[in-house]
Amino acid sequence: MKVTVVGAGNVGATCADVIAQRELANEVVLLDIKENFAEGKALDIWQTAPINLYDSRTVGSTNDYSKTANSEVVVITSGLPRKPGMTRDDLIATNAGIVRTVTEQVIKYSPNAKIIIVSNPLDVMTYCAYLTAKIDSSRVFGMAGILDTARYRAFLATELNCSPKDIQAVLMGGHGDTMVPLPRYTTVGGIPVTELIAKDRLDAIIDRTKKGGGEIVNLLGTSAWYAPGAAAAQMVEAIVRDQKRIFPVCAMLNGEYGMKDIFLGVPVKLGKNGIEQIIELKLNDDEKALLDASAKAVKEVMDVLDNMGAAV
Ligand code: NAI
Ligand code: 2OP
Repeated sequence: MKVTVVGAGNVGATCADVIAQRELANEVVLLDIKENFAEGKALDIWQTAPINLYDSRTVGSTNDYSKTANSEVVVITSGLPRKPGMTRDDLIATNAGIVRTVTEQVIKYSPNAKIIIVSNPLDVMTYCAYLTAKIDSSRVFGMAGILDTARYRAFLATELNCSPKDIQAVLMGGHGDTMVPLPRYTTVGGIPVTELIAKDRLDAIIDRTKKGGGEIVNLLGTSAWYAPGAAAAQMVEAIVRDQKRIFPVCAMLNGEYGMKDIFLGVPVKLGKNGIEQIIELKLNDDEKALLDASAKAVKEVMDVLDNMGAAV
């Protein structure tokens, strides 16, 4: 089985490394447009195999998509990352051009692949890939919810000084400041989080989660890669091992939550066919209002992409 990661930068190389170490594929193809860059990263990753004791072989390619042929899953991370002061939406025109070109090549060589988008602005780049790939939306989706939920869970584990393994949570909406962490669906070892953390502290953690990407951009001068790379690899694992895991994923809605033709973070079941089910929670009025506001923000950027048309 082959898995391809397009973009051998910070997120792509980290994702390929995790995929290889977990032996999620026999062959991991890392592709980048920058001459020899993917080859160099792939060689470095492959040289960890004798140390970390695994067999998956990572190979690099400078823009030669024939090497990606017949991939089971393709992760697209190519695009510019955020710099301090930039919003994810500032990236739209440049990254839409990149995502469109890349998706055309990916689908030409791997017509049956499941495609996971990571490039920002995430929800709209996923829409862009969907428009380009012209395949069922169960096979084109975006990674953000696992990352955003991981940030929320990590902050809660720090607050409670407990294992992050015991924290389960659902977070919905777009990958931006309007994302919707849901305390009513957050538990710690089965205990509702609201019984363990006072409301003002929980509100502060939710606020920090919403700004979690920006916090790292401000610290590093570029966006995060360890958690994003691991999150995308977790989606690959769910697909190639047909795990039927329940994750928040950026998926196209077709009537769920009263919305149509929009890509938004919602809980889904992920297995060998890609998105096998979209799970509809019974949100209360406040939660639904927050999700609607997030959807409105995403739709505005989708409209920007639509209005750019062929100019992208
Ligand atoms: P990076 O700059 O380290 O890597 C991007 C790579 O894409 C570069 O190596 C570049 O040469 C390559 N690239 C550019 N155009 C290409 C093309 N046409 N074909 C193939 N490769 C091409 O950036 P980083 O940090 O890896 O971030 C990648 C993207 O992921 C950014 O758009 C960033 O905003 C996004 N991101 C999304 C997250 C999410 O939760 N969805 C989290 C973190 C980053
Ligand atoms: C992140 O959330 C910037 O989307 C990127 O880290």
